[in-house]
Amino acid sequence: MIQTEHLEKTYRNGFRAVKDLSLHVEKGDIFGFLGPNGAGKTTTIRMLDGLLTPTQGKVLIGGMGVAGHTSEIRRMIGVVPESHGYYYWMTAKEYLQYFYALFNNGGSDESYVRELLAKVGLSDKAEVPVGQFSRGMKQRLGIAKALVNRPQIIFLDEPTLGLDPRGQREIQQLLFDINKSDGITIFITSHMLKDIEVLCNKVCIIKDGIQVEQGTIPELQEKYRDGYSMLLQTSDNDVAEGLIRRINRVTRTSREEGQLLIECESKLSDDEILSVKHELVTEILSGGLDIREMTQKTLSMEDIFFKVTDADKGVIA
Ligand SMILES: Nc1ncnc2c1ncn2[C@@H]1O[C@H](COP(=O)(O)OP(=O)(O)O)[C@@H](O)[C@H]1O
Ligand SMILES: [Mg+2]
Repeated sequence: MIQTEHLEKTYRNGFRAVKDLSLHVEKGDIFGFLGPNGAGKTTTIRMLDGLLTPTQGKVLIGGMGVAGHTSEIRRMIGVVPESHGYYYWMTAKEYLQYFYALFNNGGSDESYVRELLAKVGLSDKAEVPVGQFSRGMKQRLGIAKALVNRPQIIFLDEPTLGLDPRGQREIQQLLFDINKSDGITIFITSHMLKDIEVLCNKVCIIKDGIQVEQGTIPELQEKYRDGYSMLLQTSDNDVAEGLIRRINRVTRTSREEGQLLIECESKLSDDEILSVKHELVTEILSGGLDIREMTQKTLSMEDIFFKVTDADKGVIA
C-alpha cells in the first residue's frame, strides 16, 4: 500500500534528514513510524503525502508513484499533520463542510458530515466554533477532516502529542475503529512508545534519518529478547521464589508489579523451555502452592527501542 525505495531528503541547507529509507506498509496495517525528536519522521511523512519532494528514491502509494500522480494520490489519502491550520471562527460542522466542498467541486453532503462528526464523537459539538475546542477535540476533528474524501490510507503525524491519558486513549480507540470497520491503512508517527505498542501491528524505528529496525512487534520482541522470561502468580510468591531458584537454567528471579519474574538462560530451545516450565510447575505444586497465573513476559516497545538504539551506536551517518 505504501512503499518507499531508498528514499532520501537533503534540505536546502545541506542537512540530510532522511537517508536510504525503504518502507513496506501493507493494506490494513497500522504502521508505527517511531523515532526520537529530530529523527526525520515529519520529513518522511511529508514525502509520503507528496508535500515534500524527495532528493532521491521514490514513494509508491497503492503501486502508483507519488511524483506525477498528485491528484489521484490526494483522493486516496487523508492527512492529519503535525500542526493544523484551523479556522477558529468556523464551527466543527462548517469546518468539515468546507473540506468536503474542496474535494467535491463545491458540493455538500450534510448527512456525511454528520456521520463523520458522530464517528469522532463530536456530534454534540457540531455548532461549536473550533476556537473553543480542547486539544483532544481538535485532534478528533482533524481525523474527521482526514476522512472527508473517504481515503484508503490516513497519515497522522504525532496525533497524541500533548494530550492527556484520556485524550490519548480516545484517539487510539478511534484509530482502531477506523482501521477495523473501514479497513483504512494507518501510518502514524510518534515518539510515544506506549502509543505505538498499543496501536500498531508493524513498526519502523528511525534515528538520525536512518532506519534501524522494521517489522511486526512480535518479530521484534522475538529478535531482541535475550532469554526466556515468565511472570508467575502463585498462592505464596515468597515460598515459590525459593523453590524456583533451585531449577536448572533459571538464572534470576525478582518481582515485577507483585508477580514473580523468572528469567532463564538465553538461547534455550523450545524443548528446553518446555522442560523448564514443566519443572517449575512440578516444584510449585509439590510445594503445596497454587499457580494462579503464568505468562511469558514479552518485551515492551520501550525495551525494544532502547535495545535497538543502543545496538545502533556503531552506525555512521
Ligand atoms: N526545512 C528544513 N531545513 C533544514 N533542516 C530541517 C528542515 N526541517 C527539518 N529539518 C531538520 O531535519 C531533522 C528531522 O526533522 P523532522 O523530520 O521534523 O524530525 P521529527 O519529526 O522526527 O522530529 C531535524 O534535525 C530538523 O532540524
Ligand atoms: Mg515531527
